[in-house]
Amino acid sequence: MTERLSDTPAGVARAVALLVAGELVAFGTETVYGLGADATNIKAVGRVFEAKGRPHFNPLICHYPDAAAAFADVEASDLARALATAFWPGPLTLVLRRRVTCKVALLAGAGLDTLAVRVTAHPTAQALLRAAGRAIAAPSANRSGQVSPTTAAHVLDGLDGRIAAVLDSGACRVGVESTVLDLSEARPFLLRPGGATREAIEAVVGPVGRGLTPAAAEVTRSLRSPGLLVSHYAPNLPVRLNACDVGRDEALLAFGAPLSGAGAIYQLSASRDLAEAASRLFEGLRSLDRENFRGIAAMAIPQAGLGAAINDRLERASAPR
Ligand code: TXA
Ligand code: MG
Repeated sequence: MTERLSDTPAGVARAVALLVAGELVAFGTETVYGLGADATNIKAVGRVFEAKGRPHFNPLICHYPDAAAAFADVEASDLARALATAFWPGPLTLVLRRRVTCKVALLAGAGLDTLAVRVTAHPTAQALLRAAGRAIAAPSANRSGQVSPTTAAHVLDGLDGRIAAVLDSGACRVGVESTVLDLSEARPFLLRPGGATREAIEAVVGPVGRGLTPAAAEVTRSLRSPGLLVSHYAPNLPVRLNACDVGRDEALLAFGAPLSGAGAIYQLSASRDLAEAASRLFEGLRSLDRENFRGIAAMAIPQAGLGAAINDRLERASAPR
């Protein structure tokens, strides 16, 4: 049985005790719920991959209560410090080189010499991280390949019985994962669009590269089936993008005035507000994912700002499986 813990000092204390004992505890952040484990305990980290059904070559993000704690584990460049000042606590993850003294299990970083570090803005998560006093590895708290959870109920949909506890701190404010920025090479590279927009990051550090770093491109070329991990965030129903019309037998993910004729509608944002749409995206995909429809038709979303993260998740949800 998975314990459901409340957002109280006692709930946080119980979560910390379980984490320190090597158990898995899901907790809310401002982006999505994370599946937490003591990153310095290789057995606990192994359980994360097992519970999610996650391929072992996909590294996890380590979470810290503040920048000083994060930078004790990785080498912080001037650029990293400037970004930390501007965005932390918040939805930005930085990939940096591990320090030799870093105690995080190599398995958490999938054996890489870099580590992804993040300082979340969620007050309950911060209290938990401070009390734990060690890096907490936390990928999104969903089964691998499925839609990320933005409520404790979503977490239990996928992981009930597979994890020790979930700390229920309500719905996540941002609703899409953090932006992942690689600072381990000469030029910053955007690995995953997310809650911190490229426009805001570039205002601090200048132009960032997008797509794959040269090192990552090499790995992709060497994979027999590079499309393998493109499908992610996938509901059971097929997803059709940029819909201009919709059938009775389809469910509509609407943005602004909805197309008429759909069998069901989930409105991301009637006023076409991208922040509101991001916060409702995963809830919308889950609620429309019902057997009695042929598929989900998604209306077009502008690519600017948070639209980049929303479109990234929708493209993955619609990728061939
Ligand atoms: O908002 C978030 O980032 C959430 C919350 C819980 O913090 N976490 C999250 O973790 O989305 P996860 O594991 O689902 O996604 C981590 C992403 C993956 O795309 C992974 O490949 C990348 O970060 N990543 C982690 N470590 C990396 C590294 N050392 N180098 C390159 N990419 C890395
Ligand atoms: Mg994930």
